[in-house]
Amino acid sequence: MKTFQPELAKIIKTREETDSVKTIRFRFLNKKIIRFHPGQFIMVTAFGVGEAPFGIVQTKKDNEYEFTFRIVGKVTSKLAELKKGNIIGIRGPFGNGFPLKEVKNKNVLLLAGGIGIPPIKSTLLKILEEREKYRRVIICYGIKSPDDFVYKKDFDSWIKRNDVEVYLSADRGSDKWGWHVGFVTDLIDELNLSKNTACFICGPPIMMKVASQKLMRKGIKESNIYPSFERLMQCGVGKCGHCNIGSLYVCRDGPVIRLDRILKEVENAW
Ligand SMILES: Cc1cc2nc3c(=O)[nH]c(=O)nc-3n(C[C@H](O)[C@H](O)[C@H](O)COP(=O)(O)OP(=O)(O)OC[C@H]3O[C@@H](n4cnc5c(N)ncnc54)[C@H](O)[C@@H]3O)c2cc1C
Ligand code: FES
Repeated sequence: MKTFQPELAKIIKTREETDSVKTIRFRFLNKKIIRFHPGQFIMVTAFGVGEAPFGIVQTKKDNEYEFTFRIVGKVTSKLAELKKGNIIGIRGPFGNGFPLKEVKNKNVLLLAGGIGIPPIKSTLLKILEEREKYRRVIICYGIKSPDDFVYKKDFDSWIKRNDVEVYLSADRGSDKWGWHVGFVTDLIDELNLSKNTACFICGPPIMMKVASQKLMRKGIKESNIYPSFERLMQCGVGKCGHCNIGSLYVCRDGPVIRLDRILKEVENAW
């Protein structure tokens, strides 16, 4: 793949996850297959408008991929208008992703807030492909209200499994919401976590900050906490200097940067 030239891809289908969140499934026009680690991202071009980074998510087909986005600005508004058959541009995958190899034989806590869920879904799907390699697997997902529930069908299937613990939380509940009402980080207080738990986190900065603090108070070391950072990006490959935290570039050295590593760089990365 040429680093700065997007490859053309055709939209296979689109899915409305909520009123403001959509998923696009695509296939490269040249039918190529890409390998990626969960937590890596792609730069997606909406032609005539611009480019933005999104987490890449695997599908059951080797040559089809998905990304899920909240409509917040110009690129995402344009992407939301696109339909099956339309063409988009893709660069990447870029970045490091969550270090699944490093955490084999450990308990894994996956913590997502809002639109931080795509890389966490991708990570859980990968874990489930080789479930026996991990111990306890816990996923906590927090949303603002039940209407903001992204990937509900996937969660329904994970809830039915007896080898994944699922906990959900909404800041505001509803009559039908049978889960926690409050912040997703409240769920950490209720969890009995061993120190041998690797924690993968993706969500709004304040959520990742509070989650990291609570996990450390539970005795989990900084070296077991892996937030996925978000910064404004342009090149995606460590050349333009737009996405730095201290001397690290989020696109090249992240987006997943272990907490002890980030704390060596800056006092407040959030
Ligand atoms: C590694 C990475 C992975 C991402 N994965 C996803 C994903 O899977 N799904 C998803 O919905 N979003 C994801 N994002 C965020 C997404 O890329 C931005 O929201 C995107 O720039 C929106 O483009 P836009 O043109 O629609 O919005 P714009 O018109 O560029 O901006 C809309 C508003 O959001 C602000 N903004 C845009 N990007 C950022 C940023 N990175 N940090 C802080 N503020 C910002 C702008 O300042 C503006 O106020 C990811 C970001 C990164 C860095
Ligand atoms: S986006 Fe250019 S250096 Fe990271």
